[in-house]
Amino acid sequence: MQPKNDTLLKALRREPTPYVPIWLMRQAGRYLPEYNATRSRAGSFLGLCRNPALATEVTLQPLERFPLDAAILFSDILTIPDAMGLGLAFVDGDGPRFEHPLADEAAIERLAVPDLAQLAYVFDAVASIKRALSGRVPLLGFAGSPFTLACYMVEGGGGGEFARVRRLLYTRPELLHRVLAINADAVAAYLAEQARHGADALMLFDTWGGLLSPEAYQGFSLAYIRRVLEQLRAEHPSVPTLVFARGAGQWLERIADSGCDAIGLDWTVDLAAARARVGGRVALQGNLDPQALRSTPAAIEAEARAILRAAGPAPGFVFNLGHGVVPDTPPDHVATLVDFVHAESRSRTHSVPEGKSAENRVDAGSAGS
Ligand code: CP3
Repeated sequence: MQPKNDTLLKALRREPTPYVPIWLMRQAGRYLPEYNATRSRAGSFLGLCRNPALATEVTLQPLERFPLDAAILFSDILTIPDAMGLGLAFVDGDGPRFEHPLADEAAIERLAVPDLAQLAYVFDAVASIKRALSGRVPLLGFAGSPFTLACYMVEGGGGGEFARVRRLLYTRPELLHRVLAINADAVAAYLAEQARHGADALMLFDTWGGLLSPEAYQGFSLAYIRRVLEQLRAEHPSVPTLVFARGAGQWLERIADSGCDAIGLDWTVDLAAARARVGGRVALQGNLDPQALRSTPAAIEAEARAILRAAGPAPGFVFNLGHGVVPDTPPDHVATLVDFVHAESRSRTHSVPEGKSAENRVDAGSAGS
């Protein structure tokens, strides 16, 4: 079913839209009191992820408050390594931890693509959210990039600069390639299954690829993103794909050539320059600093206006933050941002009049690149 509000899907395909669509990474999360209430009913963050009814509830919470243009599956990128047997736990205030990280060669030799049946709770959540949305807005599915997953799998947790995985890259590159190839096949199968259960677009979070040298980025992160995208395109050619490329602003041209439909940018990237560099090959998404949402309504509007200006008149822009909403964000500030982006972008030149936006167009499907 094509969502009633398909502004996001149009923007991802670089088609004109009546206004710039907006959704926010981590739009369902601890800054919302109703999220915290549901999370305590679930007992824990992972309990919430593993309960499709509660995952549906929290996915929809931000949409009840704000006129957002997309929903994103409530889950985590670390569900895949958990299904591989690494034993995921979230320690309060300390982030994710694996009980059985890839600590030695034997652990890497044992690693395999997990049986997708172990991730059925995720696909059930996708189907349940899709039903609950009843076509209001598109649903984004997601996964971690093969390299970002490997960071946590080798390190056993987060919090630092992932020294272990970077050392492995130089000492035993073949072992890291083995992990990445397995991750890529697991991620591709996982995302394809999310699409089969109703996800309208798919996003790969490459949160840590930006830690790598230019050469290592190509060979150890982007190459495996490309492998995932190729497998997805073969199975779901019309489902748009986004790559969140944190810290990877210097490699945008190469990311644009990876086969994705859109690139998610962090706030260190000059959006106008980014558009000039990638041309019309991909849509762009971003890139307000999440800390700006903790300032004042006037500052939020000034920053959002600057971003809309930098994005320019071309179609193919999705407003978002440059990373996830942080817990101390006042919900009212999110309302200010969403309303401002809609109102301001309606009055700008990349708008087409409401109701005239390509209804009669034969849907070209994912334009690819
Ligand atoms: O964006 C959304 O609203 C969808 C849900 C979503 C979560 N995690 C929920 C979550 C998504 C898309 C993710 C992706 C994710 N998870 C990434 C990539 C994007 C990024 O943020 O860089 C990464 C690296 C993770 C791993 C992860 N999950 C970490 C490092 C942490 C701890 C840090 C933190 O914010 O607590 C999590 C926990 C997590 N994932 C929470 C949420 C809502 C907070 C958990 C809680 O309720 O205690």
